[in-house]
Amino acid sequence: MNVFEAIMNRRSIRKFEKTPVDEKLIGLILFSATQAPSSGNVQDWNFIVVMDEEKKKRLARAALDQDFIVDAPINIVVCTDLEKISLRYGERGKKLYSIQNTAAAVQNILLAAHALGLGSVWVGAFDEEEVKTVLELPDNLRPVAILPIGYPAERPKAPDRIPFENLTYVNRFGERYEFEFKNLAAYLREAFKKFAKRKVEKPSKKLTFEEFLRRLAK
Ligand SMILES: Cc1cc2nc3c(=O)[nH]c(=O)nc-3n(C[C@H](O)[C@H](O)[C@H](O)COP(=O)(O)O)c2cc1C
Repeated sequence: MNVFEAIMNRRSIRKFEKTPVDEKLIGLILFSATQAPSSGNVQDWNFIVVMDEEKKKRLARAALDQDFIVDAPINIVVCTDLEKISLRYGERGKKLYSIQNTAAAVQNILLAAHALGLGSVWVGAFDEEEVKTVLELPDNLRPVAILPIGYPAERPKAPDRIPFENLTYVNRFGERYEFEFKNLAAYLREAFKKFAKRKVEKPSKKLTFEEFLRRLAK
C-alpha cells in the first residue's frame, strides 16, 4: 500500500471484530508513531496501551459513553509530557507544540493501523481529568487522544471533503488560487473512487507481522 492509498482509504472505524491484535503489530504501530516529526525532535509523547476491560469501560465513560472504546481489543492513549515540552519551548511549547507533536504521532498511528488492515478512530471528546485518573497519569502528562484499535467490522463511506480550491489562496488571504486544471479536487476524488472500487473486490486480508517483514525485505 502506497502513501496515497493509505491517506485516501483510511476511515474512522467505530465497529470492531473481537479478534485480538498481535502484540508485534501494536509494537509496529507504536514504532511508526515515534517516527513522526516533533519540534526540535523533543518527542514529548507517551503512549498508554489499554487492554484491561474495566479500564476500557472507564475510558468509554470518560469519553461520553463512546462504547466502541470497550469493543476495540486495545486502545492507545496518546499523551504529551508538558514538563518536557515547556522546558525546551516555554509557553509556545506547552500550548501549541505539545498538541502538534502528538497530533503528528496520532496520524502516523491511524495510517499504520490502516496499512496493516486494522481500523481506528481519533477520539478527542473526553473528560481529561477523568482519563488522567483512570490511567493514573502524573500531573505533567496531558492525554490528547484515545485511539481504539482492532480489526474493522464496518466499511464506512468516505465523508465529503471541502474541495481544496475553496480553501486555498495565493500570496495573500482572500486571493483565490485559480488552478489552470479546473475542479482538480473533484477529478481526483472520482479517480480515487474508481480505484478504491477495484480494491474492494479483493477480500480484505489481515497482514501478519511475519508477512509485513517479508514485504519489507522485498
Ligand atoms: C481532533 C479530533 C477529535 C475527534 N473526536 C472524535 C470523537 O470523540 N469521536 C468520534 O467518533 N470521532 C472523532 N473524531 C473523528 C472524526 O469524526 C472523523 O475523523 C471525521 O468525521 C472524518 O471521517 P474520517 O476519519 O473517516 O475521514 C475526531 C477527529 C479528530 C481529528
